[in-house]
Amino acid sequence: MSTLEIRDLQVAVEDKEILRGVNLTVKSGETHAIMGPNGSGKSTLAYAIAGHPKYTITGGQVLLDGADLLDLSVDERARAGLFLAMQYPVEVPGVSVSNFLRSAVTAVRGEAPKLREFAKDLKNGMDALSIDAAFAQRNLNEGFSGGEKKRHEILQLELLKPKIAVLDETDSGLDVDALRVVSEGINRFRASGETGVLLITHYTRILRYVKPDFVHVFAGGRVVEQGGPELAEKLEAEGYEQYTKASA
Ligand SMILES: Nc1ncnc2c1ncn2[C@@H]1O[C@H](COP(=O)(O)OP(=O)(O)OP(=O)(O)O)[C@@H](O)[C@H]1O
Ligand SMILES: [Mg+2]
Repeated sequence: MSTLEIRDLQVAVEDKEILRGVNLTVKSGETHAIMGPNGSGKSTLAYAIAGHPKYTITGGQVLLDGADLLDLSVDERARAGLFLAMQYPVEVPGVSVSNFLRSAVTAVRGEAPKLREFAKDLKNGMDALSIDAAFAQRNLNEGFSGGEKKRHEILQLELLKPKIAVLDETDSGLDVDALRVVSEGINRFRASGETGVLLITHYTRILRYVKPDFVHVFAGGRVVEQGGPELAEKLEAEGYEQYTKASA
């Protein structure tokens, strides 16, 4: 049982205040959706939690099972059980998907997985996500299509088994079939009840497959409303205007 607790988090980028006091608690077994207009600070929240150097924490706390994550290096955060999928992952020529994943598993577990065992886990994970075997030898993120990036994200989840997963725009750019495969991957993964998922999204589409327990609306760098799955439907029908007006 794990808990990620974000308390009054304030974050600036290049001296510009972006997050203005975010409060959010995610427990293992729960799925939280964060929705909100462009530029409201959703990705900033994900990056700040992950420890991206560009994002300066100016106040508040992020606790994982009571320990302050903000004191930890990026590697240590991953080892503590945090996983972040980026909206725009970086391309790394010369590093294959397979090598990257094995290094990531090694870093998180603190020891290298046995080659044969890793190869089996990798194959099972790729099969489950309908990823072609040749994909493992591709250069990391290089020329990946939108759908390939997202499947790769879910593959990482399955191999790394984090306590808390933050998924930023996992559904963007997916066709209907890929959306289903990726959603099934998330569902398989959260069915263990051991992981808390924070799903950042613009669309209610993915939320039809991955039912959130809680929906939070982000506007102007804070959570302005919270509710259950029905809130997502309301947002789809009504848009964000009522919130953007109020927070401006
Ligand atoms: N590295 C950066 N340098 C400058 N400004 C930034 C940086 N990162 C974020 N910002 C600014 O912070 C604000 C929030 O951006 P953020 O990416 O968090 O929004 P978002 O809610 O994820 O939007 P979207 O829905 O478009 O992905 C924006 O005004 C953005 O321009
Ligand atoms: Mg974003």
